[in-house]
Parts: sequence; structure tokens; C-alpha cells
Amino acid sequence: ARVKEAEFFKSSARARDCPKDDRPEFAVLGRSNVGKSSLINALIRRKEAALTSKKPGKTQTINHFLVNKSWYLVDLPGYGFAAASQSARMDWSSFTKGYFLNRDTLVGVLLLIGLTFVFTKCDKSKKGKGGRPEENIKEFQDTISALYPELPSWIMTSSVTGLGRDGLLLHVSQLRNY
Ligand code: GTP
Ligand code: MG
Repeated sequence: ARVKEAEFFKSSARARDCPKDDRPEFAVLGRSNVGKSSLINALIRRKEAALTSKKPGKTQTINHFLVNKSWYLVDLPGYGFAAASQSARMDWSSFTKGYFLNRDTLVGVLLLIGLTFVFTKCDKSKKGKGGRPEENIKEFQDTISALYPELPSWIMTSSVTGLGRDGLLLHVSQLRNY
């Protein structure tokens, strides 16, 4: 998994201008300004290979970065608010759509997003081992924290008792303000 060499390869303004190539590629996907281009720079240890900005709407084309001469990371425009004209954004939307629909070598998408685990049916509590929601959540935490040092946020809910309703609405409203 080491990056031995990486280079900016090509900027394409249309899906059909992308490299004619059978090397596999991974595209970053996420809101404008979420940090897609910065993440690519961090992955390939090049501070300014992908252009970044404080203002959402910096990346406006499809950008291929070749890693170890064997696969690509692909930087794309983001979705949501962006400091760009309506017509420019319509353009991004049409060529990114073309890219996702037609790019045969696209093998994976890195989705940059805030993740929240919502446990449902926490009113249910069976007798015996593994029957209580707390026990299931503990097991989930133990398993997943072996993989990820920082646990994503999680919340216990029940649609029957309303457990977690206020907490989840608060959480969503905080994400909305992000
Ligand atoms: P668009 O190209 O506009 O869609 O944005 P983007 O998703 O490519 O975001 P970009 O990488 O340009 O980063 C947006 C802003 O967030 C820049 O000011 C970055 O310096 C900042 N940023 C990105 N990643 C991080 C991070 O891990 N920590 C901090 N503190 N800032 C970050
Ligand atoms: Mg960008």
C-alpha cells in the first residue's frame, strides 16, 4: 500500500477526455470544500498536486493522479454550495454524471462525509446473552474500534418509545450548520 511515486496526470473538462487507459481508478466524492483535493495531496504526499482553496468550488474538472504507475486517484468537483456560476455548476454536474455512468475503470469511490451510526429498535430487550441493546453496542464498539481508533458518532434510537429522537434531531441540526 506504499506510494512510491505519484504525479498529476491529466485534467479533463469532459468525461470522454479522461485518459484512455485500463488502469483502475478511485474517485473522491463529497461536498465542495469537504477536503477531497487535500486528502489526495495527503495520500500522495504532495502538498500542491491537487489545487485546494478555502472557498468551495475550487476543483472544476476531472483530475487524474497516477500512483505507482499502476492506478489513479481522481479528484472531482464537489456537490452542494460552491462559489461558481450556475452554468459552471450545471456543467460539472453533467460531466461528473457522464464520468460515473461511463468510466469502466472506476473501481471505487471514496465518499467523504460525516458518518453517524443509528441503532434502531433499542426498546427491544431480549433475555439472555446479546439481547440487550447496550450489549450489542458494546460488541459493535469492541469490534469496530479494533479497526478504527476514533469511533464515529453513534446514537441509540427507538421509533416505538421515541428514544434518541431529540438527540438525533440535535445531531442532524449540528451537521446542517456545518
Ligand atoms: P472543492 O474542490 O471546492 O470541491 O473542495 P475540496 O473538497 O477539494 O476541499 P479542499 O481540499 O480544497 O479543502 C477545502 C478547505 O479545507 C481548504 O482550506 C483546506 O485547507 C481545508 N482542509 C482540508 N482538509 C483539511 C483537514 O484535514 N484539516 C483542516 N484543518 N483543514 C482542512
Ligand atoms: Mg477540490
